Amino acid sequence: MDGEDGKLFQASSTAAEQAAAEKYLARASQHPVIWAVRAAALDLLSVAPGSSVLDVGCGLGEMSTAFAHTVGPDGSVAAVDLNPAMVAAARDDHVASPQDAVVTYQVADVTSLDLGADFDVVWCERVLQHVSDPDAAVGSMARSLSPGGRVCVVDADWGALVVDGVDPALTTRALDAFRLKLRQPTIGRTLHRRLVEAGLADPMVRSVHPIATSLADAASVIPVLDRRQADLVAEGDRADWFDSLELADARGCLLVAMPIYVAVATKPSRTSVLV
Ligand SMILES: C[S@@+](CC[C@H](N)C(=O)[O-])C[C@H]1O[C@@H](n2cnc3c(N)ncnc32)[C@H](O)[C@@H]1O
Repeated sequence: MDGEDGKLFQASSTAAEQAAAEKYLARASQHPVIWAVRAAALDLLSVAPGSSVLDVGCGLGEMSTAFAHTVGPDGSVAAVDLNPAMVAAARDDHVASPQDAVVTYQVADVTSLDLGADFDVVWCERVLQHVSDPDAAVGSMARSLSPGGRVCVVDADWGALVVDGVDPALTTRALDAFRLKLRQPTIGRTLHRRLVEAGLADPMVRSVHPIATSLADAASVIPVLDRRQADLVAEGDRADWFDSLELADARGCLLVAMPIYVAVATKPSRTSVLV
């Protein structure tokens, strides 16, 4: 999960970084907040059986598998990720069922998709925060849709992450250091605007605003709270930061909160604005 500034979750990760990224995704997928956000997004989308779905930045492919079940054998799912190791992991993890759609896996960059223009649904969860040009990514996803097709983007807003219970100046330094590791730390609040600016219609936006008061709970999805990822914080602050978090947790005084946004929009029948 760690890397140089702005380089979390990149294709060029080492074997150790890839193993850490896979562990992080597997751990996060056990967390109820991740599934609460997915449920909010799926509620907006209501994907129909027989649909063709593109899961961009599929990670370990959990949602690709879930969509394969939802759309059934008459539908199709294409799962893509920039990172070949992640595509391989998703393919290896996949358990095919005759009741489900076939899932195809391939390496692709969300900013330059070249998979045709006939998907009914494009899903992009927790990917745009890692992308250097999110507008290029949204444009590329819009072009992958058939007229009337819908894109759903899901992302955190790390700029609105709050931690209470630890010295405020230390908290600011630690969270700022973490945000520097992300290419788009405030992407969540911009999703709605980016879909509109890409020429998509009928935008809908929701947010899920989880609050945690247990360090173990929060650290399982928020890397900067996880001592195993201590190098996300400046060396001089590490001991103080993690000791202070643990003290606040032990005293029952810790609070962590952050909004996660979901935005959905539709490709209009007349597509000239998108190209
Ligand atoms: C935090 S993970 C999310 C994975 C999955 N969508 C999920 O929600 O479990 C981010 C994923 O985006 C992928 N990614 C990063 N930049 C990308 C890009 N430019 N194009 C496609 N995938 C990208 C990473 O390889 C990683 O698998």
